[in-house]
Amino acid sequence: MNRLQTAYCRAYQKVMKAGSDLIFTWKEPEIIGGAGAVKNLAKIIKEKGFSKPLIVTDPGLMKLNLLAGLFESIEAEGYSYALYDQVVPNPTIENIEAALKVYNDNACDCVIAFGGGSSMDCAKIAAARAAHPDKSVEKMRGMLKVGKGLPTIFAVPTTAGTGSETTIAAVITGANHTKVTILDPAIRPPYAVLDPELTLGLPPFITAPTGLDALTHAVEAYIGKSNTKNTEAKARQAVNMIYKYLPVVYEDGKNIEAREQMLLASYYAGVAFTQAYVGYVHAFAHAIGGMYGIAHGSACATILPEMLKYYGYTCSKQLADLADEAGIQGKDETCKAKKFIKSIQDLNASMGIPARFEQLEEKDFNELADRILAEANPLYPVPKEMDRNDVLRMLKHLKA
Ligand SMILES: NC(=O)c1ccc[n+]([C@@H]2O[C@H](COP(=O)([O-])OP(=O)(O)OC[C@H]3O[C@@H](n4cnc5c(N)ncnc54)[C@H](O)[C@@H]3O)[C@@H](O)[C@H]2O)c1
Ligand SMILES: [Fe+2]
Repeated sequence: MNRLQTAYCRAYQKVMKAGSDLIFTWKEPEIIGGAGAVKNLAKIIKEKGFSKPLIVTDPGLMKLNLLAGLFESIEAEGYSYALYDQVVPNPTIENIEAALKVYNDNACDCVIAFGGGSSMDCAKIAAARAAHPDKSVEKMRGMLKVGKGLPTIFAVPTTAGTGSETTIAAVITGANHTKVTILDPAIRPPYAVLDPELTLGLPPFITAPTGLDALTHAVEAYIGKSNTKNTEAKARQAVNMIYKYLPVVYEDGKNIEAREQMLLASYYAGVAFTQAYVGYVHAFAHAIGGMYGIAHGSACATILPEMLKYYGYTCSKQLADLADEAGIQGKDETCKAKKFIKSIQDLNASMGIPARFEQLEEKDFNELADRILAEANPLYPVPKEMDRNDVLRMLKHLKA
């Protein structure tokens, strides 16, 4: 990227950071935590004066009977709920409209977002549509387009994870497999239930990519240029915990202490990136994952080490800090940074995450580059900017 373009991107990012630090209060959700915490939710909802939640979830979780405790406790509190349980991975605009219809048909008064990032994002935007029926999902795309007055959202993550329970973001699949990213503090859930019992049954093939998604959030936030003291601390803490506990939960999914630590790590990484942003790893993952139907975390994990190599010396100090958190030794910053990148490759390999994408096809590169540049430039405060040629070179590099 030439100097003028870089200067424009940097100026834009500085204005965005100053503006958001000034305008947003960055109030974190109230956490309802601990093993079995989801069973307390019904009582809390009643105490807040609500009596008809819309529960948004996916068919897989229904089949696993994961919502039984929630359903029973709502009935025990003497009120009822409405249910939308058809969210697909990478939720669609159709999902949101269908959830909205259930909300309206049943005169609901709050929303429970129960599941992974897909269910939580669907619930967040269904709540946004309920408050703003005249504004389509497409019109909410981008920064600060949602508007206020949303029904209260209670987020219950069942993966660890996207961090969606604490972010101002939602990612929805629009026409032609494009990803619509919506960023607005109005969709940040005021309540997050972090109950590790809900994640005990996650199979390793979901535990691994979702955990690596959380790692990517922490790394991209930490190496970016819009950090605050709080986002730096949360990102470091998340990396420390993920290196300790992701291999444990991958091997032994029933380890409740490790599951609890992963839920917290994912939450911390969410706190970090929602204020400090993500970077090109996410822009590439959204474009590639959207086009070829690759799980979000898996796409992120494949791209992460290659993007860190591209950034090179521009973030070796930060990567050396993260190496310290990961317990990686080295004689200097450069050495630690290299070892940290290698450790991500090793982690990926040990959990069956591919090093390259078999699905990538050269005929799609121009379309992918358009989508990546539209998402990332000038918004993401990355350590080193990419222009179109850099993006095309990276796509070629990522193809198996
Ligand atoms: N809003 C944000 O801040 C944010 C951040 C990152 C990613 N995302 C989005 O989140 C989505 C991905 O979410 P995800 O990775 O959490 O997966 P997901 O919600 O798509 O779920 C993937 C699969 O895991 C299953 N599953 C979930 N919890 C389970 C459990 N406890 N036990 C067994 N199976 C379980 C689901 O049934 C589903 O089949 C993508 O659309 C991505 O773009 C959003
Ligand atoms: Fe992510």
